[in-house]
Amino acid sequence: MTSDAAGGSRPGETTVRVGVLGCGHVGGALVEMLERDAEAIAARTGIRFEVAAVAVRMLSRHVGAGRDELFTEDAQSVATESSTDILVELIGGLEPARTLITGALKAGKAVVTANKELLANHGAELHRVAEEAGRDLLYEAAVAGAIPLLRALSVSLAGENIIRLMGIVNGTTNYILSEMSGARISYAAALAEAASRGYAEADPTSDVEGYDAAAKAAILAGLAFNAEVTASDVFREGIADVSLSDIEFAERLGYVVKLLVIAERHGEGPKESIGVRVHPAMLPVDHPLASVHGPFNAVFVEGEHSGELMFYGQGAGGAPTASAVLGDLIEAARNLGGPRRPAPPPPRAVAIRPIEELLTQYYVAIDVADRPGVLAAVATVFGSHDVSIRSMEQVGLKTEARIIFLTHMASEAAMRATLHDLAGLDAVERVSGFLRVIGPER
Ligand SMILES: NC(=O)c1ccc[n+]([C@@H]2O[C@H](COP(=O)([O-])OP(=O)(O)OC[C@H]3O[C@@H](n4cnc5c(N)ncnc54)[C@H](OP(=O)(O)O)[C@@H]3O)[C@@H](O)[C@H]2O)c1
Repeated sequence: MTSDAAGGSRPGETTVRVGVLGCGHVGGALVEMLERDAEAIAARTGIRFEVAAVAVRMLSRHVGAGRDELFTEDAQSVATESSTDILVELIGGLEPARTLITGALKAGKAVVTANKELLANHGAELHRVAEEAGRDLLYEAAVAGAIPLLRALSVSLAGENIIRLMGIVNGTTNYILSEMSGARISYAAALAEAASRGYAEADPTSDVEGYDAAAKAAILAGLAFNAEVTASDVFREGIADVSLSDIEFAERLGYVVKLLVIAERHGEGPKESIGVRVHPAMLPVDHPLASVHGPFNAVFVEGEHSGELMFYGQGAGGAPTASAVLGDLIEAARNLGGPRRPAPPPPRAVAIRPIEELLTQYYVAIDVADRPGVLAAVATVFGSHDVSIRSMEQVGLKTEARIIFLTHMASEAAMRATLHDLAGLDAVERVSGFLRVIGPER
């Protein structure tokens, strides 16, 4: 870091040298932004960023596009290079990102990353390394792309008693569900459409099975409740089993189907626990999250004093994500010059509430043989587990019938026992739909 007229800075400006790991969607957009907008950023912030080096996996893909001297395959030396102040990690994945970030922090650099997978699995360990080194570890871009959400939770809402957080943080699944609803197409057709438009990766597992959202849920819950939460603490179900018929039924009753992350705090003191889950759910059509369509993200936060807050915007894409990285770079650069703000206490160990203790309403669709007595047998199973039925509808399907139930509030444990026993009835062909229902009973 050099100040004033030294090192190419104008009077009053500080030059900050940055090493970047990865030059893909996000890294490429960031490097372009830092170079093209250097003057404007310096005018707005007083900080002149200089990209010192960019590490990539295959040099041959990046040479010839200008600034060849910046690129290297030696990520280790970029991470610990003595002339840089901040390392930006945009490789993704657990290794070598974890080792490189640890090395950079120990070498005295602040680190900015967008790596949700790494933070959700090794966040506590990396925070400890950063704390010991007295350096920043910032990761606004890891959740919900361009939306300034993590800083809001960790700074603006740091003193707030957050009760609940609910959001749509995976654009791929939100696009697929929006397409199914809007174009009245199947899950498979909507997934193919998402892939053709670049909203789904060649292997969509991480998105459609909810792993990506679960990593983000762990990060959000950790910040909202100052607790140690990892991806393995998050209950997770994806959207692959959501059918067009589920969506149509939900809409008839005034709901939309969304893949939600939900983090809630229960109890106080020694009885405190946190529930963190990711699953598709029926959401009332008048809920603010219901109108979040296509690849957009939004997170709804409920605080004791703040009331309800909603954060909305582009959750992915090179430039939107790089915009969040740039915000972190500016914060890290400001903290290089003076004393760091008092660090928050380390995340607390808080009990994770088992999903079996969840209390909610359920939608269940079952395909049964169309013969007398079946409905009574099915209703008996619900009753035997104290799951009370709020409404029921029967639709004919040639020799079968589909019976669709909405339940009153019931525990997940009771609902699971009900599904288990339903599957064991002779007349039940299959459970063809299952969704949790958000909101008060109507
Ligand atoms: N894309 C998004 O919309 C988005 C949104 C939010 C967060 N993120 C996060 O941002 C990070 C980067 O995502 P991305 O979409 O930009 O990924 P990407 O397009 O796949 O780019 C990855 C970059 O890392 C480089 N790389 C991979 N392994 C390396 C290694 N061992 N050493 C040096 N360089 C290596 C690659 O080099 P080559 O170019 O030579 O292959 C490539 O330039 C990830 O953590 C991701 O989860 C992405």
